[in-house]
Amino acid sequence: MAEIIDGKKISQDIKDEVRDKVATLKEDGIEVTLAVILVGNDPASGVYVSNKKKACEYTGIKSLSYELPANTKEEELLSLIDELNQDNTVDGILVQLPLPKQINEDRVIRRISPDKDVDGFHPESVGRLSIGERGFVSCTPAGIIELLKRSNVEIDGKECVVIGRSNIVGKPMGMLLLRESGTVTICHSHTKDLKEVTKRADILVVAIGKPKMIDASYIKGGATVIDVGIHRLEGKKLCGDCDYDSCAEVAGKITPVPGGVGPMTIAMLMVNTYQAALMHRGRI
Ligand code: GUN
Repeated sequence: MAEIIDGKKISQDIKDEVRDKVATLKEDGIEVTLAVILVGNDPASGVYVSNKKKACEYTGIKSLSYELPANTKEEELLSLIDELNQDNTVDGILVQLPLPKQINEDRVIRRISPDKDVDGFHPESVGRLSIGERGFVSCTPAGIIELLKRSNVEIDGKECVVIGRSNIVGKPMGMLLLRESGTVTICHSHTKDLKEVTKRADILVVAIGKPKMIDASYIKGGATVIDVGIHRLEGKKLCGDCDYDSCAEVAGKITPVPGGVGPMTIAMLMVNTYQAALMHRGRI
């Protein structure tokens, strides 16, 4: 039976570490500040934003909340971002996605100053990651690296397989595993023999977006399985992209859903925001 990688516990540890560091900065008169922008009333986005604000409160980070109506014009959102870019008291800017369809997400992401891009979505942040320069890294894949490191899973020299090639998870995940000297393969919907590839993996990261698609037949004995998916089944039970019970029979270590990758995303947002504050104060 696989050992469980406890994302709830690890994310709590990280938030506690950030809280201590934020408190130390406060003693020097520095307040760490995150601007959180929500446009419209998508219920899932509302929950995410409220959890992000709660994490700010817990860690001692000041959050500035901007809740704009669903019919907000792109120009209005862009000028709010311009204002926040210029405000020296703001360390990080987060625009919750998805945005209403009259607003071009790509233009919004590009408008955020790269030194406040705590989501790591700006092309400059993505470029820095790919050439190994310091910059903000997308929170979910950054959180997965922390899960692996804090569970003593070696990445160096290991076969790492990522299923999914999104800009938010799959691609940055591949770059991060490469940075840690893993041998990386990224699979996607056009991959010919998925099972043949995933069975080679020492570390398998699954970010497909299909409930319970991966079972034990895709997994090498003793492999570490990281499940990024989260889906609500009929009857309200949550599940991931992996069939947990089946995968846990053969995996060496595995993340549960919920309580695996999910809580890490917000913890890493707190880490990125703290790092932004250090950068803006010339401390790194
Ligand atoms: N929507 C879904 N995931 C994310 C995320 O990590 N950041 C933002 N800003 N929006 C999201």
